Amino acid sequence: MEEKNNYTTKETAKYLGISTATIYRMEKQGLISSTKTPGGQRRFSRKTIEKYLRESQNFEAPQNPSRYKKTDFIIKEAEATYVAKPIAIQTDELFFHTDSIWICNADILKTNNIKDDSIDLIVTSPPYNVDIKYNSHDDTMSYDDYLSFTKEWLTRCYEFIKDDGRFCLNIPLDKNKGGQQSMCADITTIAKQVGFKYHSTIIWNEQNISRRTAWGSWLSAAAPYVIAPVEVIVVLYKKEWKKTSGSRRSDITKKEFMEWTNGVWNFMGESKKRVGHPAPFPVELPRRCIKLFSFVGDTILDPFLGSGSTLLACLQTGREGIGVDIDKKYCELAKRRLLTEGQINQLKFDVTVGSR
Ligand SMILES: C[S@@+](CC[C@H](N)C(=O)[O-])C[C@H]1O[C@@H](n2cnc3c(N)ncnc32)[C@H](O)[C@@H]1O
Repeated sequence: MEEKNNYTTKETAKYLGISTATIYRMEKQGLISSTKTPGGQRRFSRKTIEKYLRESQNFEAPQNPSRYKKTDFIIKEAEATYVAKPIAIQTDELFFHTDSIWICNADILKTNNIKDDSIDLIVTSPPYNVDIKYNSHDDTMSYDDYLSFTKEWLTRCYEFIKDDGRFCLNIPLDKNKGGQQSMCADITTIAKQVGFKYHSTIIWNEQNISRRTAWGSWLSAAAPYVIAPVEVIVVLYKKEWKKTSGSRRSDITKKEFMEWTNGVWNFMGESKKRVGHPAPFPVELPRRCIKLFSFVGDTILDPFLGSGSTLLACLQTGREGIGVDIDKKYCELAKRRLLTEGQINQLKFDVTVGSR
């Protein structure tokens, strides 16, 4: 490198043997800092570069997930040496991570692995308490116990997100099994009690939930049952709806924006058999939420990770992702999906993410 005091991003990248996109990610993670010229161009001082070189022996530069080739994929199972924000190092909980994806095998009510005020967007679908046979979680609580559990985990999520953080909560509209309940209304009320602000509700018309067997009183007004074959995504936020933190770079296309801001979403549910989990949502659900409600490079959390659909969507869209599941078997499943489906899909997305 030519001897001078300040270097452009391109020169710095060349000197360190990494891409300019990696430099931007490193800067975002606080690993390297720059000053700006009056024209807004980054300049990295010689001192900064030398400091980075000294300290970088302890960590790896954050890679763009869209650029991973199968052989490059950095796997570290419960052996973290360096983990960037927003996740703390707890090797007993950290099941798997790459430079941008973390899977924690933990109870979301108890984990102290996620830092407060660190998450840009939560996308999740909790257990619905409808007697699904999960490996660990008991899905047959009384409705009151279920609502107490809901309040506990919503409180934790409120702590995790930033002041301008958002929350996309996929839940059923009603509960029909084991007594009618206004689930969406009850959970939304609890979310507001916890401190969340309400923004809107998206109706997800999951075209394959057509198992209509309970009519109540057939062709009679005595006691008919009405069932809406849809689920909802309740959109909440912490303090400010306008998002000011993050890269401020959106990757949503005009067509997607027009289609997805219409609050009725039509796409198929995911096959339990194909994925190997009893209640997965399709990757399309978190993908839409992520592209509509977060900036490129933001940090996304799924506190009920299951088969890892949200992390697959993070990988596809160039977001950092944290997933938590109480069950080790599902953490393993999520990891496997990232290494197989994540790699395949990534090829499709190479052209749309990572370039600045
Ligand atoms: C509805 S599933 C999520 C499915 C996921 N959206 C997917 O696409 O596969 C709920 C998940 O929450 C997990 N779970 C239940 N209680 C939990 C807790 N206290 N902490 C963390 N995970 C929990 C279950 O093991 C289950 O995998």
